[in-house]
Amino acid sequence: MKHLFRSPRTAVLAVAALVALPIAAVAQAPDKAAQTIKYRQAALTLLGWNITPIGAMMKGEIPFDAKKVELHATRLQQVAPMIVEGFPPGTQTGAPNKAKPEIWSNMDDFKAKAADLEKASAGLVAAARTGDQKQVGQALGAVGNTCKACHDAYRAK
Ligand code: HEC
Repeated sequence: MKHLFRSPRTAVLAVAALVALPIAAVAQAPDKAAQTIKYRQAALTLLGWNITPIGAMMKGEIPFDAKKVELHATRLQQVAPMIVEGFPPGTQTGAPNKAKPEIWSNMDDFKAKAADLEKASAGLVAAARTGDQKQVGQALGAVGNTCKACHDAYRAK
């Protein structure tokens, strides 16, 4: 901190400026939709990031590690309920995205599909805790099916 800021007051002002920027960015409506789209794509990217190593373990590309499966599956379970927040009305456009308009006309079903992922991810956490690779494989398949079900219905190709 000593090198970055000459005084504590400068440090506080600098941090305040950092925080103020994104708040200014969401103040305007078109930017707000763009921010929201970015948020949801970030959440979905987290899902892809965390499921990938589990898939690689099941394919034998990297060694099976039940502790790592538990960690990644826990993250899937935590991110799943964040998906729906990223799809408020008015965010079909505003930035490039692949969300189909049917999401907003079938919001209850979309929410149910996000809840299915959350439930399946909890199942994967439980399977990881048994340490049994076969059970992890089955639970991972169930998680993958929930991703696919939502993509087939609501993600444009
Ligand atoms: C409730 C519906 C739903 C579920 C469940 C879901 N997705 Fe998606 N996913 C979408 C939609 C809709 C998009 C397109 C969003 C957009 O472009 O704004 C998407 C996009 C993505 C993307 C691309 C993100 C980007 O940067 O554009 C990845 C990666 C992804 N999903 C992975 C997954 C994985 C892995 C799972 C399961 C663990 C999953 N998704 C479960 C609806 C879902």
